[in-house]
Amino acid sequence: IEGRVTVPAIRERKGGKPISVLTAYDHPIAQILDQAGIDIVLVGDSLGNVILGYEDTVPVTMDEMLHHCRAVSRGVARALVVGDMPFMSYQASVDEAVSNAGRFLKEGGVAAVKVEGGAPIVDAVTRMTEIGIPVMGHLGLTPQSIHTFGRHKITGKDEPDALRLIEDAQALEAAGAFAIVLELVKKETAKRITESVGIPTIGIGSGPHCDGQVLVFHDMVGIYEYIPKHVKLYANLRTAITDAVQAYVKDVTERKYP
Ligand code: KIV
Repeated sequence: IEGRVTVPAIRERKGGKPISVLTAYDHPIAQILDQAGIDIVLVGDSLGNVILGYEDTVPVTMDEMLHHCRAVSRGVARALVVGDMPFMSYQASVDEAVSNAGRFLKEGGVAAVKVEGGAPIVDAVTRMTEIGIPVMGHLGLTPQSIHTFGRHKITGKDEPDALRLIEDAQALEAAGAFAIVLELVKKETAKRITESVGIPTIGIGSGPHCDGQVLVFHDMVGIYEYIPKHVKLYANLRTAITDAVQAYVKDVTERKYP
């Protein structure tokens, strides 16, 4: 399609005009983001938190992800749509990773998938990219491993951790990944990672030195109850929606509407 954001076009933005990424989980919001000029729409497994009310992303299933990917894909005409592979859909074996990634493209209608982690998933990333499934990596705080981390915290603070992240980023690039999300990485380390790879880094809570930025939509428009520290509130929809609902309740109970 003419004017469509492609995987090669995102790769070419390395070191150039920063890449804008937001999450979406449904058709109308996907359409709004697309028409407002976003580069990448990510159907994040953060839907576990902000849409489905789970405590974390661990319980999210393939079926839940594909259901929302289909809705988002139908709403996007221009941006690149990336689907987030849920916990245990790509970790157990390369074969399982590849067939689940294939379902994201065939059934979810997305153009690429995102996976969390470095060295342990490099074989799966290699196979996916070899057979024509574009892959976005995700390093730093990887929420599917929340039980290993214990809590959400900044990563890449000491030198061994920084070096491990740089090695993981380079391994993902060598495996064919076209971009890497860096979540809650100390900003100096995010800068070093960005300078160590030839593919774009997309930061979230990782400072200004990445090649792009991503936020969870429900955080940046203030719908979700808990707003993480790194988020800039671009709107306060929780308040706006509450005001609208209260006005409606008042109108109905006082027979003012209809
Ligand atoms: O699930 C998600 O929304 C994500 C982004 C925060 C990068 O992984």
